[in-house]
Amino acid sequence: MADRYLTAVNSGVTKTVAKKLGLPRPAHLRRYRAGDPLVPGPVLVLGGKPGVPDAADDVAHALLGWDLDVRQNADADTRWGAIVVVLTEITSPADLSGPVMDLGGALRRLLPGGRVVTVSRAAGDDDSPTLAAAREGVDGFLRSVAKELRAGATGNGVQLTDGAAPDSPSALAALRFFLSGRSAFVDGQLLEVGPAEAPAATDDSPLAGRVAVVTGGARGIGASIARTLARDGATVVVVDVPAAGEALAKVANEIRGTALQLDVTAPDAGARILEHARSRHGGLHVLVHNAGILRDKLLANMSPDKWDAVIAVNLLAQLRINDYLLGANGLSDAPRIVSLASTSGIAGNRGQTNYGYSKAGVIGHTRATARLLREVGGTANAVAPGFIETDMTASIPFAAREVARRASSLQQGGQPVDVAEAIAFLASPAAAGVSGQVLRVCGQNLVGR
Ligand code: NAI
Repeated sequence: MADRYLTAVNSGVTKTVAKKLGLPRPAHLRRYRAGDPLVPGPVLVLGGKPGVPDAADDVAHALLGWDLDVRQNADADTRWGAIVVVLTEITSPADLSGPVMDLGGALRRLLPGGRVVTVSRAAGDDDSPTLAAAREGVDGFLRSVAKELRAGATGNGVQLTDGAAPDSPSALAALRFFLSGRSAFVDGQLLEVGPAEAPAATDDSPLAGRVAVVTGGARGIGASIARTLARDGATVVVVDVPAAGEALAKVANEIRGTALQLDVTAPDAGARILEHARSRHGGLHVLVHNAGILRDKLLANMSPDKWDAVIAVNLLAQLRINDYLLGANGLSDAPRIVSLASTSGIAGNRGQTNYGYSKAGVIGHTRATARLLREVGGTANAVAPGFIETDMTASIPFAAREVARRASSLQQGGQPVDVAEAIAFLASPAAAGVSGQVLRVCGQNLVGR
């Protein structure tokens, strides 16, 4: 769906009028395009103490390995493509003021579409109150900074757990994702990264040799996920209901994958997915639970069929398919499961008790599934989109749609590809240290966290 307002406020007279009236002026976002630089200008790495080798040096060194122009001192002239603030070594809230003031001084020279990324440690159960305050404080700081950025710039954080090193492959993979155009609509989010063996992140076919299944792949976000995983080298099976068979075949042909007509609520859905992936492609490595439906009604008007249908498709089908695949040892070789949640499952939404229950349930089972997959070196994560421009959201009445679009730091809806890029990152071998997480793709929606 086109966002005509976004186009209007970025062109000609309407741009000037919108500026004068103080109307929201959403920017065109910097999205990934093959061949574009990772960031639009030099990268400033802040944190650490001058002359003492530390984590900020390690991160700066790693960024140099990506052929970036990396500096550790701000000057008055440079316009920054990104600013990375390394806070892993803070031990007291008093340690923040130095790097934070340096960041504040450089922010005015952040380029449009620029990035602010913090690298810090998550508070742990054994932290002293002072250490826990120092670490947890980064959460509120980062989310607030992100709300101050303009011109399509975003702010996100990598939060290291269990002693993971700031320059470990998964920490760098998360940092690279946040710096790149792949995370255009991810804003104000902190992503936990634990220690894990992983290959280095790459843009060059990271999913080569992997077989991925995407449910609900005939249109919208699912079709975009299928295209993006195929772009990254995966062989993709798209699954959708028989009624969507024609659109499904079109997507499968376009990405040189295969189509499986299947209602995911069928009792044998897991078995049919596995049989198809094994017989046609030799295995199954990545499973994306994307199929989902809405049946909105206020709870006072909710009928059992509307409640049950949403729970069956959005939640029970995922549970049943996972149970089958885990029980049958059907996922091989560092498997990845990524499930579609929603900001409605985090913050709740009027008229969506059924949908909110199903999507919060997805977050619950993802954490539990992550524990089960750890034993086989796999991961399970959820992606929670905010307002994304698809046929599903096109059905929302105009006024409600406009409010939903503008009620985020980026003041616009996301595109299906924004969700797809987050899923491709979580599906990649380099993201082995990210598991049991919920990554919001919502432009820092003003509801919930
Ligand atoms: P969509 O309605 O455009 O596409 C959903 C696809 O799932 C359709 O192709 C449909 O045929 C398929 N599907 C539905 N029931 C199925 C079943 N029983 N078996 C197999 N396939 C089935 O939806 P959209 O917008 O692309 O959403 C995709 C996912 O993202 C859903 O899980 C949705 O809840 C989630 N989401 C979407 C948001 C948005 O703003 N569009 C926001 C938050 C979450």
